[in-house]
Amino acid sequence: MTLIGRAHGHLDLLINNAAISRGHDHPPSEMPVAELREVYETNVLGVVTVTNAMLPLLRRSPAGRIANVSSGLGTVAFLTGPDPDPEMRPYVTLLGYNSSKAALNAITLMYAAELRDTPITVNAVSPGFCATDLNGHRGVLTAAEGGAHVARQATLPDAPTGAFLSERGGTYPY
Ligand SMILES: NC(=O)c1ccc[n+]([C@@H]2O[C@H](COP(=O)([O-])OP(=O)(O)OC[C@H]3O[C@@H](n4cnc5c(N)ncnc54)[C@H](OP(=O)(O)O)[C@@H]3O)[C@@H](O)[C@H]2O)c1
Repeated sequence: MTLIGRAHGHLDLLINNAAISRGHDHPPSEMPVAELREVYETNVLGVVTVTNAMLPLLRRSPAGRIANVSSGLGTVAFLTGPDPDPEMRPYVTLLGYNSSKAALNAITLMYAAELRDTPITVNAVSPGFCATDLNGHRGVLTAAEGGAHVARQATLPDAPTGAFLSERGGTYPY
């Protein structure tokens, strides 16, 4: 039994927020595989590990929610877009980060499908482009604004499942 289980007996909301980025100086073909592995360890395997550990407690909630903090950089729409937003252009070559978020989006959809017949919803959420350590503080929103976006998306009444929720309201295309 986990600490949360002993203290509360159930978990209503899991926000998978932790993520890292590596290899900003390399095009995809020159990204060291060790750095790619490091990114996947946190951004992909970490999410699966924590989610699976928390699922028994989420199942005991009357309305469990899983919010995976993702990024528009991992969407097929962004990766195939002919002309990315100039603000985002420096980030198109991030092999580790972008592909790990694409994997996270796929994982979100697969957990949503597995849990569709339960009260648990599973969505990808977006904080928006925030000034944090992750991007050398180049974002346009504050971390607090990004946190507020995630909190709102993660607690939507009548939450959908399997959606990629946008910080602007509505959804992103995957
Ligand atoms: N900033 C943006 O513009 C933006 C846009 C879209 C999505 N996001 C997403 O928002 C989330 C938060 O990013 P951020 O911008 O706040 O980045 P950040 O300032 O770099 O914070 C990342 C957080 O993840 C934690 N972390 C990293 N590796 C971990 C690990 N292996 N185990 C546990 N914790 C770990 C860090 O903890 P320590 O400080 O202890 O290392 C830190 O608290 C991420 O999922 C990111 O992909 C950010």
